[in-house]
Amino acid sequence: MNNDKHIYTIFGASGDLTKRKLVPALYSLYIQNLLPDKFIILGAARSPLSNEDFREIMKDSILNSDEIEEKSSVNKFLEHLFYIGLQYDNPEHYIQLKEYLEKLRTKFEIPGNTIFYLSTPPSLYKVIPVHLAAAGLNKTSDGWKRLIIEKPFGFDLQSAIELKDLLLKDWKEEQIYRIDHYLGKETVQNVLVTRFSNGIFEPLWNRNYIHRVEVTAAENIGIENRGGYYDAIGALRDMIQNHLLQLVGLIAMEPPSSLEPLSIRNEILKVFQSLRPIKKEEVAKFAVRGQYISSVINGETVKGYREEKNIKPDSKTETYAAIKFYIDNWRWGGVPFYIRTGKRLPTRVTEVVIHFKPTPHFLFTRKNIQEACNKLILRIQPDEGMLLEIGIKTPGAGFEVQNIDLDFRYSELAHQRIPSAYERLLHDTIRGDNTLFARTEEVIEAWKFLTPVLEEWANNPNVPLYGYPAGTWGPKEADNLFEDENQTWRFPCRNLTNSNLYCEL
Ligand code: BG6
Repeated sequence: MNNDKHIYTIFGASGDLTKRKLVPALYSLYIQNLLPDKFIILGAARSPLSNEDFREIMKDSILNSDEIEEKSSVNKFLEHLFYIGLQYDNPEHYIQLKEYLEKLRTKFEIPGNTIFYLSTPPSLYKVIPVHLAAAGLNKTSDGWKRLIIEKPFGFDLQSAIELKDLLLKDWKEEQIYRIDHYLGKETVQNVLVTRFSNGIFEPLWNRNYIHRVEVTAAENIGIENRGGYYDAIGALRDMIQNHLLQLVGLIAMEPPSSLEPLSIRNEILKVFQSLRPIKKEEVAKFAVRGQYISSVINGETVKGYREEKNIKPDSKTETYAAIKFYIDNWRWGGVPFYIRTGKRLPTRVTEVVIHFKPTPHFLFTRKNIQEACNKLILRIQPDEGMLLEIGIKTPGAGFEVQNIDLDFRYSELAHQRIPSAYERLLHDTIRGDNTLFARTEEVIEAWKFLTPVLEEWANNPNVPLYGYPAGTWGPKEADNLFEDENQTWRFPCRNLTNSNLYCEL
């Protein structure tokens, strides 16, 4: 895989993602010398900006980014940025784009290698690639061409299949990179390393020793300025269909035969193909949805979801979703998986909890059986790390047992910064490594699995949508997903005082 000279074209260049994530990530690669000596970043969008305007906006965002420390090379970097205004549905403008690309190539001696990153509203995923192809910009005779698509890939099973078919008419599967930024997170990739570089976990990583698996992705923020997008999407589509199922894929997959992209992606696909379908009539038993309502957090009144900007006053969109499911294969037969995600929960934390089964015989007194189960917690963010909860003898007479944490934090690794997810993934798009990108079949399987839930929630007025006060852990009905009434979700944080930080009681 090469670091070839190329032009990185970003559609939607005047949008938020370009400013907040994409260009800072490219700058970060630049200062680490991870970009080739010759490259251009070409912003494309509807807004009529000059190169200077575009550079100014990007300069601000780099200077204000707290993910970047070294900012002294910013002006040098900006010399690589250019901008072109276009209407996405005008074929003429793609001819102009092609000419502009050729001009830049000749001037800066760059071959035809080009990335087209679609950081646009999803409705344009059906428009831009078709026009690019019509202008011949998918042709690889003068260099590689890659198409990067943000989530959501489709709105449901049907539209995802349609989008797949449309794209595959003009683009080859290996040219399409479906970005899921969770896969770019170091700690998500560390799931693979934890499992397959340690001899001690893999023998236990199955239904004989694991009681259940829990995944939480909590956010304390609300929907911010994204009402228009979010109200049509909801938590299940926004987080579970992509990010959290991909994470489950890594937790549940069989060891790949190598680190080759196809080898890893095949194993993830097999997990998705083994997800036990949830029957329509069982949706209420396996899935719970909620929506935040107004409340007071740290003395401040926080709006309810329906009072947010661009949200219908009678919206039934879920801002919280929890589901339980099984993976019907030899390794996981009978082990329940629980996933939950939500906006306006008490804190921001994403973690995986592997609950091991208790010892077969209790030699020591324990308050309850839950306490006797070891837990391995993979903390995806923030305060990245992992901890293993084990029992030790309480010092003193008798044999009292207490649980302690063997705790590792990435922040303890001296001089090792964690690259942002976008930094890693953008670098991979340049190197042509698609290991950490979702392949079509995975996306389709994920939609297939969630379809009964999506349909029931959309069409059956009897399925409840529970309100939960902003700043709490979501509807208490989500506890009913557990098989045993003594089981509950793990609460990594119960207080509301550290609202933007990981906190543990
Ligand atoms: C995005 C969702 O894909 O992921 C957002 O659209 C969500 O709603 C975000 O806030 C969460 O990402 P992270 O990296 O902050 O966990």
